[in-house]
Amino acid sequence: MTNQRIYRVAVLGGDGIGPEVTQAALDVVRAAGVSIDPTPYDLGAARYLRDGFVLDDATLDELRGYDAILLGAVGPAIGDTRIPGGVLERGLLLRMRFGLDLYINYRPFSGVAGSIAQGCEFAIVRENTEGPYAGEGGTLRRGTAHEIATQGSVNTRFGVERCVRYAFERAAQLARPKLTLVHKTNVLTFAGELWSRVVAEVAVQYPNVEVDYNHVDAACIYLVESPGRYGVIVTDNLFGDILSDLAGAVTGGIGYAASANLNPARTGPSLFEPVHGAAHDIAGTGQANPIAAVKSAVLMLEHLGEAEAAQRIARAVQDFSGDVTSLGTAGITNQLLERL
Ligand code: NAD
Ligand code: IPM
Ligand code: MN
Repeated sequence: MTNQRIYRVAVLGGDGIGPEVTQAALDVVRAAGVSIDPTPYDLGAARYLRDGFVLDDATLDELRGYDAILLGAVGPAIGDTRIPGGVLERGLLLRMRFGLDLYINYRPFSGVAGSIAQGCEFAIVRENTEGPYAGEGGTLRRGTAHEIATQGSVNTRFGVERCVRYAFERAAQLARPKLTLVHKTNVLTFAGELWSRVVAEVAVQYPNVEVDYNHVDAACIYLVESPGRYGVIVTDNLFGDILSDLAGAVTGGIGYAASANLNPARTGPSLFEPVHGAAHDIAGTGQANPIAAVKSAVLMLEHLGEAEAAQRIARAVQDFSGDVTSLGTAGITNQLLERL
């Protein structure tokens, strides 16, 4: 037996179904023979309601020391007025994405049997530190008849280019190398022109990659009507967020959609989480599909260089064909464990 590495992983189960699906993912990783030394962090809505803590500099710095971060989901239930919008999303999740320079949000999709996109494989490469998420804007004269709210979109040459380069690298590895820029260049002309120009410039270095462009509204049609056309979709932070939920829905359901918030430069840990949220509507019922969390853990193992274990879990997920609704979290997890 060779010396096995033990990975130090910060585990942020979070809220709602977050802890349930994260535990399932850790169980599956362990069954695949990878040694994880998990350090739980109690962060999210429940913690905030208890003592007002979201995330401070010291904790963020501490997170920099891990090999990876595994997150379930954070956020209050929709309609819970005790926590103003953004407190957790901006204060915790985005703070980690920005603070750890997780500039790529890589979201691979694989259409499960019976789904609209059955058999289709494609990925969304979402810019993860800029766009409307950057926080540019503000309010003036709040509460008056002359109130103003602006929310700008920040697109830097540096940020767009590193995202586009990553997307081309991914696209070049496909059996049918194809990259589609999705934007709204017909209206968002300033940002759209920058994205288009960068794609055209980088494309010169990837002559084997077919390059296409869709307006984001049309992409919503194509994802439903002809998802097989896509290889890698590269897009900005907000379009990528919205398209991910649509892509999840057409490939079998949001319970299957995984993501990797990557720092490709590896100046710190990357963060792995399902695309879905805390789903308070089904929390505690045992109905949550843990596959999105399991596949996020697969992305973590790939990033850590545990390709063989990652492949074994990915195969177990692919071979799984049970009825997710009747099996529930425990039933699905057990079937995956049996296959490992
Ligand atoms: P959501 O993804 O939590 O839920 C949307 C719908 O999908 C719900 O009907 C839910 O039951 C279903 N669903 C989600 N995950 C599922 C799973 N694994 N299995 C089966 N069904 C699943 O989105 P929402 O309701 O808009 O957001 C709830 C909270 O989660 C909000 O506070 C939001 O900000 C937060 N959120 C967090 C993250 C994250 O931490 N990365 C992502 C998205 C939303
Ligand atoms: C996601 C989520 C987050 C986002 C929220 C919770 C901040 O929807 O990871 O897709 O908008 O990026
Ligand atoms: Mn989202």
